[in-house]
Amino acid sequence: MIRIAVLASGRGTNLQAIIDKIKDGKINGQIKIVISDNPEAYALKRAKNNQIETNVVCYRQYQRKREYEQEILRLLKNYNIDLVVLAGYMRLLSPAFIKEYRYRIINIHPALLPSFPGLHAQRKALEYGVKISGCTVHFVDEGMDTGPIILQKAVEVKQSDDEESLPNRILKYEHQLLPEAIRLFAQNKIQIQDNKVFIKG
Ligand code: GRF
Repeated sequence: MIRIAVLASGRGTNLQAIIDKIKDGKINGQIKIVISDNPEAYALKRAKNNQIETNVVCYRQYQRKREYEQEILRLLKNYNIDLVVLAGYMRLLSPAFIKEYRYRIINIHPALLPSFPGLHAQRKALEYGVKISGCTVHFVDEGMDTGPIILQKAVEVKQSDDEESLPNRILKYEHQLLPEAIRLFAQNKIQIQDNKVFIKG
């Protein structure tokens, strides 16, 4: 059974999807801690409602990013975490942090990477006028949304879509894709070769 930490900054619907899949017995793992940089994050409430431990690590309470990240790393080590899941975590992790958990940090991004990395991915997709968008689960590396891709799901962009309807439609698939990637990780089915992911059958 793998030990999972979830980092979330906001409403936490992806966190909820993971909690639900674990409850259904679909993932051979447990969320040991939910960490947020935002004391108001609804994700914290979701964790508490499900008897999951939480911790708030406020960025502005630290003088340097290094110290802020050291505190998160301390928690991850204390809880003996195998997998770190970024579920709407709005900060870029430093190379020193990533080195500690190489290929053990995953992120969900609401676009088909490598298109539209960074913030406001769905807005950028709409502005560009793409006909297909979607979501991506990937390992986190030193770049912005650039690590090896684990799973992707394409979602059609409709002419009538706006900044509410497209993110909502993509979100439904995020809630399937992220737990599925965690399930595969927990089953040790993810292999990486030449920075590419291969899923064992
Ligand atoms: C999701 O769209 C995710 O792809 C992005 O941030 C959003 C988080 O949503 N990284 P939630 O907090 O999980 O509801």
